[in-house]
Amino acid sequence: MQILDGQLVSKTIKDSLKLDVAALVVEGKRPPHLAAILVGNNGASETYVGAKVKACSEIGFKSTLIRMEDSVTENKLLSVIGDLNTDPDVDGILVQLPLPKHISDEHVIMAIDPSKDVDGFHPVNAGKLVMGSPAFVSATPHGIMLLLEHYKIETKGKQAAVIGRSNIVGRPMSILLSANTNYGNSTVTLCHSHTHNLKEICLRSDIIVAALGRPGFVTGDMVKPGAVIIDVGITRVPDASKKSGFALKGDVDFPAVSPKCSYITPVPGGVGPMTIAALMKNTFTACQNNL
Ligand code: GUN
Repeated sequence: MQILDGQLVSKTIKDSLKLDVAALVVEGKRPPHLAAILVGNNGASETYVGAKVKACSEIGFKSTLIRMEDSVTENKLLSVIGDLNTDPDVDGILVQLPLPKHISDEHVIMAIDPSKDVDGFHPVNAGKLVMGSPAFVSATPHGIMLLLEHYKIETKGKQAAVIGRSNIVGRPMSILLSANTNYGNSTVTLCHSHTHNLKEICLRSDIIVAALGRPGFVTGDMVKPGAVIIDVGITRVPDASKKSGFALKGDVDFPAVSPKCSYITPVPGGVGPMTIAALMKNTFTACQNNL
């Protein structure tokens, strides 16, 4: 069994982007600029946005973090997005989800200019992905594809099970793995809460992507020997032995599954850092399209 080291691959990608930014600056151009909006004080969101801003500074991107109160109105948020859309200095815009209940995710996502939608959530980008046109691809599935590419994991003709059909991870993942591209061309089964025979589907799969947010859901008896396991789950579970008071748990029962598989992503240190690397790549692309 080999660990798919997201930390290491993410660093390689960020180091390469750092050189690309330096080259831009030598040409007299400005570095890429990511604007991140964080509404409220959700602990996990704070951590994720903090990691995104930190990655920007490591690579040499400019970043702007806009914090808004939990009580902010939808109109106010939409007007801030409108200003970022027309600001020629801003290449990428992300609004960290989840949002407070009184704000519609859909209204917010629709308000972002698709050319600055580095999260790939806007229907224009989601639609282009489905059609196989160049698009900003949601950072988590994009990062997983970069990981498969780095380790040269053969996907052509393989059976893949994606568990979870969210717009952010499962659904785009199923499209990428089934696309007629390198590291695509798999036969994909997209599983969800109404799927019958989930164990059977997993047992015949060469690749399993677990993205349902239920700690330890994929157990040893669900995995075919030699399968490739991608664990997207990152749930905070109480753990008194940790300073933070919680531990991060993946959707895969790592101790039971890891001895059976060929490759597996750890949690943390697998998919999480790749998500950041993919977001940085998207932001660089947005900047290139803009300059
Ligand atoms: N919440 C969970 N994942 C993501 C992500 O990739 N982007 C944003 N904006 N919010 C998220």
